[in-house]
Amino acid sequence: MELLDILEHEKKEMMPESYKNLTTAEMERRVKEIKEKFGSKLYIPGHHYQKDEVVQFSDVTGDSLQLAQAAALNKEAEYIVFCGVHFMAETADMLTSENQKVILPDMRAGCSMADMADIDQTDRAWEKLQIVFGDTILPLTYVNSTAAIKAFVGKNGGATVTSSNAKKMLEWAFTQKQRILFLPDQHLGRNTAYDLGVPLDKMAIWNPITNELEYDGNNVEEIVVILWKGHCSVHENFTVKNIEHIRKTEPDMNIIVHPECSREVVGLSDYAGSTKYIIDMIEAAEPGTKWAIGTEMNLVNRLIQNHSDKKIVSLNPFMCPCLTMNRIDLPHLLWSLEGLEKEEISNQIIVPEHITKDAVLALDRMLANV
Ligand code: 13P
Ligand code: SF4
Repeated sequence: MELLDILEHEKKEMMPESYKNLTTAEMERRVKEIKEKFGSKLYIPGHHYQKDEVVQFSDVTGDSLQLAQAAALNKEAEYIVFCGVHFMAETADMLTSENQKVILPDMRAGCSMADMADIDQTDRAWEKLQIVFGDTILPLTYVNSTAAIKAFVGKNGGATVTSSNAKKMLEWAFTQKQRILFLPDQHLGRNTAYDLGVPLDKMAIWNPITNELEYDGNNVEEIVVILWKGHCSVHENFTVKNIEHIRKTEPDMNIIVHPECSREVVGLSDYAGSTKYIIDMIEAAEPGTKWAIGTEMNLVNRLIQNHSDKKIVSLNPFMCPCLTMNRIDLPHLLWSLEGLEKEEISNQIIVPEHITKDAVLALDRMLANV
């Protein structure tokens, strides 16, 4: 029912082929023109992982927390053309008012991690976990999740987290309940809980495919954190081998990674933190210092360009950008904006009211804590 609601609301429209024949100069000129025409009625948030050709037109750039906060604060824009992925646009829709329209320039811009937890799997998991653990679990979900998962979490007293505030939110969650179910990224959940002193043998994995708990210990009562078996298909490409290679060839290079990387990779790195943390660290670093960065490639390339006084490389030299983030490009941005000009809105993101109501509880609990 929920999925049908969403599909009914979100008519997926594809950009006409003709946009691919336009020159970059022509597209840039048109985007500028439309932005000027709409003024503050149009707002374009852009995630740090977006392409430069899109970021140059963003009114605000940020990580997912900063963009959620920016969307919540903006009361002026009638149109929010969200340059990021689907779950971020859903969040923006839920945090903005009724009369504001959120548009995703390409509906294929999803997040493979968010797709690793669907609401039916989550309901089934919750039912089983309640039988084993009773009312001792608080669900937390990384914002990289569908609105329906956020609603499930909100309904059950939990909150959303981002990579910037996961530690704070886990601390909060432990003041509420004895155990945490962390969706959908096992790595962010494990890395954050480990940082807070939870030993690895007190963490179990929930496998949504088999609908089973994966746990090596003897006493389930000792489990404190249950990690949903999801991951980011971009960040999983940073490996222990990449780290060993850097340590051998560039021993004075600092290694900094996003906490969506595996526990082993985070454990062997010098620093780990959110997108914002990585940017701040590189900005504050002394000229001449050397950095291998384990995160999305559009961002790493931008850091390389903006910090020519430092030696910066990708931790994995064969890394690609996040392909779904990359779906949003200049032709799609222009197509969305020209649609607004003609009052033909394509790809509006509308989260149904009954989902928004509970999901906002989870988002508000996070925003109140950060
Ligand atoms: P941030 O919360 O750091 O913006 O990360 C979002 C994301 O998709 C990381 O892969
Ligand atoms: Fe999702 Fe990973 Fe892409 Fe982030 S980098 S949007 S988590 S697939």
